[in-house]
Parts: sequence; structure tokens; C-alpha cells
Amino acid sequence: KVMAPEQPLQQQVCYTIYNYAWKTGRMTKKIKVRATASVANVSCGFDCLGYAIGDPADILTINLKDYPGVNITLSGSKADTITTVAKYNTAGKAILSLLNSLEINQGFNVHIEKGVPPGSGLGSSAASAAAAVVGVNELLGNPLKLDELLVHGMAGEAVASGEFHADNIAPALFGGMILIRSYDPLDILQLPVPENLFSTAVLPDFSVNTKDARRMLPKRVPLKSAVEQAGHLAGFTLGLYKADFDLLGRSMVDLFAEPVRAELIPGYHIVRQAAMDTGAIGCGISGSGPALFALCDSEKISRKVGIAMVESFKKNGLNSIAYPSPIQRKPPEILG
Ligand code: HSE
Repeated sequence: KVMAPEQPLQQQVCYTIYNYAWKTGRMTKKIKVRATASVANVSCGFDCLGYAIGDPADILTINLKDYPGVNITLSGSKADTITTVAKYNTAGKAILSLLNSLEINQGFNVHIEKGVPPGSGLGSSAASAAAAVVGVNELLGNPLKLDELLVHGMAGEAVASGEFHADNIAPALFGGMILIRSYDPLDILQLPVPENLFSTAVLPDFSVNTKDARRMLPKRVPLKSAVEQAGHLAGFTLGLYKADFDLLGRSMVDLFAEPVRAELIPGYHIVRQAAMDTGAIGCGISGSGPALFALCDSEKISRKVGIAMVESFKKNGLNSIAYPSPIQRKPPEILG
């Protein structure tokens, strides 16, 4: 059904996996997957630290179709700003990358219900890409392991940000708090999450384009800043291991992106201060913004901090939504 048996060995293996899945009934025709938002950078880990949150989330419904190609339809938050051309769409590109690696020519219809608004700094493209690769892999009978899906999710993410970075897609795909120790070779590490660590993400009512926000960044940083930032990232990692919230807070400092990106967010320093005054461990820009995030040591404080930040944004003329949440520890959920 997929390709002729006289194809080279590697392709025949793929063909066999695919047909095995199909014949044994492990391959279903339709699936619904929910993948959540994520907070990248976490102040001290530009492009190399991120965690998943429980809400908001994208829900993808994926169907096998009888002819090749990936068809995308969209609904939900700011869906009209997203392309449906598969190779330029984060979910579409991630699926094409996965199919290409398996040399499978199966076609899919993909409906993306956006819960994570694009341009929010909450890993919107990563949520779609993570749900896409998990869903398609499941429909194919799981030929790839979860960690093998990452490069395909990253290919999708790169369409949105213009560069490969994994600090949204890795948390969206694996859940938890993720450190990308190295990009070449790729080395992804799951960090421990203290039980009572909670997050609040607050999204003001405007968008920031990730590509633009990356162009603003300095191409070089002074050695002194690099040294200080390395100390903060190491301190944050140790803080997670020891569940030392003071150490986490002291380490949540960003000398690379925050100084330039703060200017994109009206009232940034005031809203941040409101979070700190209400008891946040630390607060910063979520990914490339405009969402802010705060880490807190209880669910109750995370809710209070969310309310304080929304009120503070309001005083600065901006409506916003708070998403208090535990750290999302699980991979994308298959809803059926
Ligand atoms: N690390 C990326 C950046 C995240 O800050 O550009 C984008 O959401």
C-alpha cells in the first residue's frame, strides 16, 4: 500500500512496520491528541531550559487519508493568522519530516484546534508540532520512540522561529523541566521538579513574532555576562535538585534576552515586581514573550500571583489572562 516491495532494504523495513501495524490492527484511522503550552528560557536558560504547563493546550485531530499529502485545517485562538500550507505550518512540517525519515508516503488530514495563541511566548508552535508527531506516530503503530520524535518536532518549530531551538518542543513532547545540554550532538536532560513548584503564565492581549524577537538579540555577549549566566543556570539546576526555592529565585536572572525584550512589553518591570511582591519565587519573560511567567512555592500563591499580574497589566492598559498550573509532567495526551 505504501511502496513497492522492490524498494531498498531500509524502505522495505518501513513498509513492513507500516503494514504490520495496519494488519495487526495497531494502526487506527483517527486520533485526537492534546499537547500543552510551555515556558522557554525560564530566565537563566536562554534556548536551553524549558518546562511544560497544564494549560492552555492545542488539540489535534488527525485522520489517515487515501492519497498522499498533509492537509491542514485550523480553528480556535488566532487560527486565522496561521498558514495551512503544510510545509510552512509547524504541525505540517513536523509530520512531513517524520514521514520523510520513515520513507512513508501516507497522507493525513490534520485539524488543529488552537488553544495556545500564536505569538504568545507560550510555545504555540511547539504544542502543535508535539501533538502532530505523537498523533501521526501513534496512527502508524508507533514505529518511533518518543525521543526519536524530537528532531521532527524541532523541524516544525524551526518554521515558526526561523532557527532550531528545542526549549519549547522538548518540554511539550516529554513533559517536565528540560535542560538542553547540547544541540550538537543533541543531549536532552530531564531535571527534577520539586513537588510543590507551581507556575503562573500571564498572557497580555498582544502578539510578539518569535522571528522578530530573535532578531533583536545580541549576536555576542560580554564574557562577564556569560560567566554570570552560567552561574545562574547551574544554581537553578542545583535549586531543583535540592528543592531550594531561595536558590531558584536567586538564579532566575536573564542577562541575554530580557534586557532587550522587556521593551516589547508595556509595564514589564512593574508587572514583574507585582509578582515578586505577591510571593513569587521569580518572574520573567516566557520564551520570546509577551507572556510572563512566575514560579511559586504553592498552588495558592500561584493563583494570587496570577491575579496580581493581571491587575498590574490592567493598570498599564493591557488586558491579560493568567494560567496558574502545576508543571505538566506528562507527554501529550491521547484523547481518543
Ligand atoms: N528560546 C526561544 C527564544 C523561545 O527565546 O527565542 C521562543 O519561544
